[in-house]
Amino acid sequence: MEKVEKIRIYRNKSQPLKGKVKISGAKNAVLPAIAASLLTKEKIKLTNIPLVKDVFTILTLMKELGADYGLKRNSLSIQTKNITSDEASYELVSAMRASILVLGPLLARSGKAAVALPGGCAIGSRPIDLHIHALEKLGATISLEHGYIKAEAEELRGTEIEFEKKTVGGTENSLMAASLAQGETVLKNCALEPEVSNLCQLLVKMGAKIDGIGRETIRVRGVEELGGATHEIIPDRIEAGTFLVAGALSNGDIQLTNVNPQHLETVIERLRYSGAKIEVKNKSLRVVGSPKIKSQDITTSPYPGFPTDMQAQFIVLMTQASGTSIITETIFDRRFSHVNELLRLGANIEVRGDKAIVRGKTPLSGAEIIATDLRASASLILAGLIASGETIINEVEHLDRGYEKIEEKLSSLGACIERIKE
Ligand code: UD1
Repeated sequence: MEKVEKIRIYRNKSQPLKGKVKISGAKNAVLPAIAASLLTKEKIKLTNIPLVKDVFTILTLMKELGADYGLKRNSLSIQTKNITSDEASYELVSAMRASILVLGPLLARSGKAAVALPGGCAIGSRPIDLHIHALEKLGATISLEHGYIKAEAEELRGTEIEFEKKTVGGTENSLMAASLAQGETVLKNCALEPEVSNLCQLLVKMGAKIDGIGRETIRVRGVEELGGATHEIIPDRIEAGTFLVAGALSNGDIQLTNVNPQHLETVIERLRYSGAKIEVKNKSLRVVGSPKIKSQDITTSPYPGFPTDMQAQFIVLMTQASGTSIITETIFDRRFSHVNELLRLGANIEVRGDKAIVRGKTPLSGAEIIATDLRASASLILAGLIASGETIINEVEHLDRGYEKIEEKLSSLGACIERIKE
């Protein structure tokens, strides 16, 4: 029988985390970049690749679609001379929702695509209607058959697409499809996340004609063909944010390298408000925690607002703040699965609709808990770092989807954390 992996964290006295940690490339930037490689016959080289499970999942999918790749340390070379299948299977899409990102490129390159309706993180309803609507506007015919989204188009034609609401994946799928469409596409109300800009920069290197990168309105003039390129993936701002919270929470002193501080402005602002000191350098950040943490209200919103992917980690920080904090989640429904687990550790949190009311300061005491989704898992690790005694986190596969060697990185900062197999 396959052994179950768990994470064990142990703490018997105050343990400030100290030292230096290198942040990996951004999971959410590498997935669309790999999908974009389907748009050309030529080779795409990507550097600063994070070695996380979602990357291996999309690479398995790429192989099924006809790609050849080589991964050496953190550099990937990938080439799809011919598309040999236009189907993304349920098995892969249910393991990782971002598999939907191959829909636009497959359709643009080969005129058809079939992608299973996604699963992925268990965080409320996550529809793909905005992706579908955009591709239909570009001229695709889309149907749902046997659990698969089937898209077909003899040719895609430039058009105007205004997203009803900001969608990272929807913007990315549309940008990739529009790059090979006939004529000009104007995309309005685009997501402003740095991962979207990172994709645009790769597409431009491949020969795409894109104006307005980093803005809400982006113009794409379609070209006949795209070519090879070499591109660096931006640092993972959510991994960086998670380590910043670890430093603030443990009253530690951590230096993060390989970061882009500009991508973390809102998170830095909130951490400073909580009492932590943050030193900003060109590509590094230093966090020095404070023994007194201040409560605050936070509302998640699209970039440059406070990221939903940092909400769970900040809830843990607020359990150690004196006073009441109200955390409002506006991006995803039911994204509070970590709260029940935090209650088991002794936190005082009440969920009311889209709000979590955190009453601090409460000491946490270690217990056996379950990781429920990717960012929830990170928050449970943070809680385990300050909980007294032993915390065992089950179902850590969620964590492995997006964090590279997190237990090694935390151990190097002085945490007592290990992976156990039972
Ligand atoms: C991406 C990130 C994820 C992050 C999220 C929000 C990747 C691989 N994942 O997810 O880590 O939490 O952005 O910052 O980059 N929506 C619709 N219809 C659609 C698409 C989205 O209603 O067709 C809604 C979603 O339910 C959600 C909101 O739009 O309420 C934002 O979702 P979106 O930005 O698309 O998230 P993802 O791209 O899936």
